[in-house]
Amino acid sequence: MATVFFGIIVHTKSFNEFESFENGFLAVDGAGKIIGLGHDYQAWVSSNPDQAKTLFKVQMSDNQFLMPGFVDCHIHAPQFAQMGLGLDMPLLDWLNTYTFPLEAKFVDLQYSQQVYKRVVEATVRCGTTLASYFATNHLESTVILAREAASQGQRALVGKVCSNCNSPDFYVETLEESVTATLAFVEEIRKLGSSLVLPTITPRFALSCSKELLKNLGDIAKRFDLHVQSHISENLAEIDAVKDIFNTSYAKAYDNAGLLTNKTVMAHGVHLEDDEVTLLKTRGCSVAHCPASNTMLSSGLCDVQRLVTAGITVGLGTDVSGGNSASIHNALLRALEVSKHISFFKTQNIHGTGKAKSQDPNYVQLKYKQALYMATLGGAKALSLDHLTGNFTLGKEFDALLVDVSVDENPMRKLSVDELIEKFIYTGGERNIVEVFVAGKRIKKECRSEYGR
Ligand code: GUN
Ligand code: FE
Repeated sequence: MATVFFGIIVHTKSFNEFESFENGFLAVDGAGKIIGLGHDYQAWVSSNPDQAKTLFKVQMSDNQFLMPGFVDCHIHAPQFAQMGLGLDMPLLDWLNTYTFPLEAKFVDLQYSQQVYKRVVEATVRCGTTLASYFATNHLESTVILAREAASQGQRALVGKVCSNCNSPDFYVETLEESVTATLAFVEEIRKLGSSLVLPTITPRFALSCSKELLKNLGDIAKRFDLHVQSHISENLAEIDAVKDIFNTSYAKAYDNAGLLTNKTVMAHGVHLEDDEVTLLKTRGCSVAHCPASNTMLSSGLCDVQRLVTAGITVGLGTDVSGGNSASIHNALLRALEVSKHISFFKTQNIHGTGKAKSQDPNYVQLKYKQALYMATLGGAKALSLDHLTGNFTLGKEFDALLVDVSVDENPMRKLSVDELIEKFIYTGGERNIVEVFVAGKRIKKECRSEYGR
């Protein structure tokens, strides 16, 4: 049976195109596909008489709206177990002190099951309808993560992490182990037969992979036409180490292995040089902007305006647990803050900064609707899944959030559509996300969500 939502519906069509319907309707068929969107419901009924015969109707209240689900382009599922802890070190020390010992524990399948159940539950609560997950080096444990996403109904890209060098003895693979387990993982996901979960080739970062491993992974991605995810240019010490080892730029190290494709998303990109930005653009790669982590691990301020201007698709990542929140709503807000902070440096003469090389009086701050794009359609595009999800284009799957701005208290006056969105972005959170849908199936429902009836 088809379902029709009536009320405020918003989505984005590009970085600068936001579309809203105040007294709108959105129709979803029994298979979870969007079959109607607009203002003129009667016209839709006339042209869809069969669908309109048996309809479930949902009337939203004045303080509710429907928006596309959040897309998390970069999250480390095992690190959920230490989220909010150990954020007092820069990247390489943080990896060695906290993160590698934690991830090594995922050889234990019972522990893996506990953590992976919790991380998927938490991200679903936060409205993440699509996540690109890093797991750990372990094959069986990574399959558990994929099963968990599928069984909770979340759309996911899942990667078995690969690392065969510059890693501690207790958490490293040989080249052969890494390649064999990656191939086995791809096969396991195929056997899982879920329409929601796909495997993604996941070299941890250039620093922990030999040239040969990177090349093998590039070949596998090409042979099976797979997604690729990794880290790039996050931290200055890391970048120096990569340059020393590979004798080339960070982006070139991946490109030489065939890992930069139009299905590749690279996390961070805080310190990319101009020729690396051009290379990513030429290859059709995307960037996952992870503002929380870039601040927490003192990596730097990533100028996403620069990347977007260069024609690169940018989505948002929580980067749990370098990032201290599993919420893309939170990442969206922090992306807006980071952009404001950059503007302080670029456009104001802050004490001590003098006339820095990066001064740009014409710098334009990120707008909340642009950040909303990055959190939804931009993310779907970054993960090369925008043919399926990211906005409410007819024919796409219904991956959506029903948001209620009046959960804490009713606004003092009737808010315009734009104001409702603003209010949600600047003051809201997971409590306002009362329902979550993936492929038309409801995977979160708060008892508050009574559609204003
Ligand atoms: N670079 C390599 N591994 C990691 C990780 O787990 N988190 C972050 N933020 N950066 C990385
Ligand atoms: Fe990361």
